[in-house]
Amino acid sequence: MSERHMKLGAFLMAGGHHIAAWRHPDAHAPAGSDIDHFIAVARIAERGKFDMIFIEDAAAIRERNPDLASQAARSTAFEPLSLLAAIAVNTSHVGLVATASTSYTEPYGLARSFAALDQLSGGRAGWNLVTSASELEAENFASSGLRPHSQRYERAEEFADAALALWDGVEDGTYFPAGGETFADHSKLHPVHWHGKHFAVDGILESQRSPQGRPIMVQAGASDVGKDLAARTADVVFAASQTKAEAQAYYADVKLRLGKYGRGQDDLKVMPGISPIVGATEEEAKAKYRALQEFIPDAVGVALLASYLSVQDLSAYPLDGPLPEMPQTNLIQSRQQLIVDLGKREGLSIRELARHFAGARGHWQVVGTPSQVADAMEERFLDGAADGFNVMAPLFPSGLEDFVTLVVPELQRRGVFRKEYEGRTLRRNLGVASPSKG
Ligand SMILES: Cc1cc2nc3c(=O)[nH]c(=O)nc-3n(C[C@H](O)[C@H](O)[C@H](O)COP(=O)(O)O)c2cc1C
Repeated sequence: MSERHMKLGAFLMAGGHHIAAWRHPDAHAPAGSDIDHFIAVARIAERGKFDMIFIEDAAAIRERNPDLASQAARSTAFEPLSLLAAIAVNTSHVGLVATASTSYTEPYGLARSFAALDQLSGGRAGWNLVTSASELEAENFASSGLRPHSQRYERAEEFADAALALWDGVEDGTYFPAGGETFADHSKLHPVHWHGKHFAVDGILESQRSPQGRPIMVQAGASDVGKDLAARTADVVFAASQTKAEAQAYYADVKLRLGKYGRGQDDLKVMPGISPIVGATEEEAKAKYRALQEFIPDAVGVALLASYLSVQDLSAYPLDGPLPEMPQTNLIQSRQQLIVDLGKREGLSIRELARHFAGARGHWQVVGTPSQVADAMEERFLDGAADGFNVMAPLFPSGLEDFVTLVVPELQRRGVFRKEYEGRTLRRNLGVASPSKG
């Protein structure tokens, strides 16, 4: 029996991660704006002892063409912090990770909002720091516009430092000191004087110290600069890898960078995505997968593929031919490379790549019985490819329910996943060190 337990995140996505989930007869199409749906799904994750639920975000519709936006069923979603505040009061242990952008917010406001989520959830908040690569998002904040990749990260570096300084500026027990006559113990307050190229912050966070020291930092950058930022500041890193070799290479690369910043190997948990489709038998699982794939119209699959490749349009190329050479992108470089590599490695046509990516959106797809899914996860966990997984159910709630009912007990039986939460805070359950102050 292994002593090391894998970490599990439930990546929530309205009606499901599968691009055509909303068309499936089992799906709840308007899920993105149904709070009861999200609460029910969060409770399923908590029943499965998941470390966290995770909410992605972009402050924009996801596709320029509104028909494609509704196909993707991701444009009608709640803003993550508001959503997680509602979920916080309806759950007790599961961690709550919200995405927020360093490109279109300021450190003080963001640190304050996450401190509030952390307080009201009893220490379960996490921030998925993103630099935002979407042009549609940039258009909504046109005064700043979409900055080049390097500038987005330069700003993110400063942003992370300023936010961390704000959270660390308030020690435990600052307010209402025992037996004291003053409201605050001033020796425990450390005003932040942070002056950089992009931000200036002079002040104190108006919040008590987080029950978990400070909110958990999550990132998903895959470029060199993104991985360095994660190695320096993050507790968890998400990733998209297809093969075990790719996942191992990413894992080794990120872990190696930790040393540069004086951090230990366990200080950062690497959690790649997995899109599991589980059936009682292999045939049942495959039938579930086929049923979902049949709902993907070619136009939607190809448009989605184009957006992952960061190109405007692929309609000039034959659907059954190979991908043309791709121009280098200022947007998500790693995702483009992953698709190009897969196309070449497996000789896939544009139509085939489109179907493949539409399903799991570039993440690892596993279709099988509970023990086959557990085998696949355990293998990557034990072979240096993952500390845990960000589970991307194709359909909600049924896909997550299948995973919790069928796969979680199998992982527990093998001794690679917890049977009970270790504690009440996300930091405690993840097993990452507390920041020094407080
Ligand atoms: C699991 C996962 C979730 C992500 N969620 C978001 C998100 O909610 N919003 C966003 O703008 N980017 C999101 N991203 C994109 C990353 O934050 C990052 O921009 C991308 O991986 C490119 O990183 P790079 O520019 O360092 O290559 C996500 C990536 C992954 C793998």
